[in-house]
Formats: sequence, structure tokens, C-alpha cells
Amino acid sequence: MAGVRVDVHGFWEADGATKTFTHSLDPDLLAAHVPPTARVLDYGCGYGRLTARLGELGYSHVVGVDPSRTMIERGLRENPRLALHHQRELPLPDRDGAYDAVLLFAVLTCVPDDAAQGATLAELARVLRPGGVLYVSEVPLQRDARNVARYEQHQQIAPHSPYGTFTTEDGGLFRHLPADRLRALLDDHGFAVAEERTGTAPTLNGHVAECLQLAARRRTEG
Ligand SMILES: C[S@@+](CC[C@H](N)C(=O)[O-])C[C@H]1O[C@@H](n2cnc3c(N)ncnc32)[C@H](O)[C@@H]1O
Repeated sequence: MAGVRVDVHGFWEADGATKTFTHSLDPDLLAAHVPPTARVLDYGCGYGRLTARLGELGYSHVVGVDPSRTMIERGLRENPRLALHHQRELPLPDRDGAYDAVLLFAVLTCVPDDAAQGATLAELARVLRPGGVLYVSEVPLQRDARNVARYEQHQQIAPHSPYGTFTTEDGGLFRHLPADRLRALLDDHGFAVAEERTGTAPTLNGHVAECLQLAARRRTEG
């Protein structure tokens, strides 16, 4: 892959970088698939909330990467000992198979474009060793009236955008993927889902949403 600039919405250098992120990491799900000796990439790490959490759980080789400079600066200010890196281009600087596990928490929702989602997963598949684990947490397409209204409102403004895309009053642009589409996206990029959990997560603006977590293994046959 030639150097491609990561398409990061301006929100993540502004109001988005002041938020508190909320998807909870399930230590049991992680431990069932990823040993503490694993080399872990926290992709779209924000201010390093989960990079730090993994350290507390005994994972000693964890690197966080995010395309927002403001987010990485905040993370290093709050926790200077974390290995957090600003990375605004793909490919990542890592060799093929450099990691045993990748966290992808609430990141695809910030990447509304199909092609950009595909490029992200293709790159994560490259840096994850065959058999390695991708732990994804997402808010999938919701069915409640508030969310349906904003999906429909966005369709009227941008009829060619995928259904489930919406904006927030503070300037964010997001997309909720149907759960089946998320599973298909993983499958298309060489990941086999090993385990799934559902639950709820507080949203960035204080609501509660259904949340889907998947532990997927990179297939050895590519
Ligand atoms: C909701 S935050 C989640 C941060 C972190 N994963 C957590 O759960 O604490 C989403 C993060 O994705 C990053 N992001 C936005 N667009 C991205 C892209 N195209 N590729 C990778 N990360 C992106 C943002 O800068 C932000 O830090």
C-alpha cells in the first residue's frame, strides 16, 4: 500500500478530543483469547484509555496509535509512560504480523466511508499475525426512535451516505453498522469470529446504546 492519509474528521482534533470514552473492555473475553505476553496494538486508541487498562491487567507490550494529534497529546500528558503514537498515514510502520492482538474500540463508527473501513481492516489484518486476535467493540445499528430519526434526517441531507450515518450537535460524524455487515466486513478481510458478546454502553453524549463486541481470529490461510 502506498502512503494513504487516514481520513479523520475534524471533530477528533476539536470537541471529540475532550470526551470521555466509555466502551468497557471485558477482561474475561480478552484473557480467553489473548495472553498477557501478547504484543498488542490499540488502534484508534484516543487518549490511551485502553492502552493504560491493558497495562493494569498485566499486558506489558501494548502500543496505541491514533490519527488525532490532539488525542495523542492528551494521552501523553495524562499518562506519559504510555507508548502512544500519532499516525496519520497508512500503512502503519510495522512489519507484517508484528502483533498478536489488535483492539479496535469504537473506531469503525468514526469511519463512515465503506472504502476507508475496508482499508482500515486490511491494514490491521496485515500487521496481525495469522491466528492473532482482533477484539472489536462497536455500537451497531440501533432501533430506538431517537437513533432512527437521526439516521433518516441524515439520509435527507446526504442521500448517498450509507444508512446509519448521522451527525451530532457538537459536530461529530458517525455511522452505526448493521451487526451482520460488521460480521461480513470482518469475514471479507480474513477474520473468523470466535466469540461475541452484547451489552450496553454509555454514548459520548450521555445516552445508552446497545453494544456489540467480537473477538475474531485472523485466518491462517489469509
Ligand atoms: C470514540 S474514540 C475511541 C477511542 C478508544 N478506542 C477508546 O475506546 O477509548 C474513536 C477514536 O478513533 C479515532 N479515529 C477517527 N477516525 C479514525 C480513522 N479513520 N482511523 C483510525 N482512528 C480514527 C479518533 O481520533 C478517536 O480517538
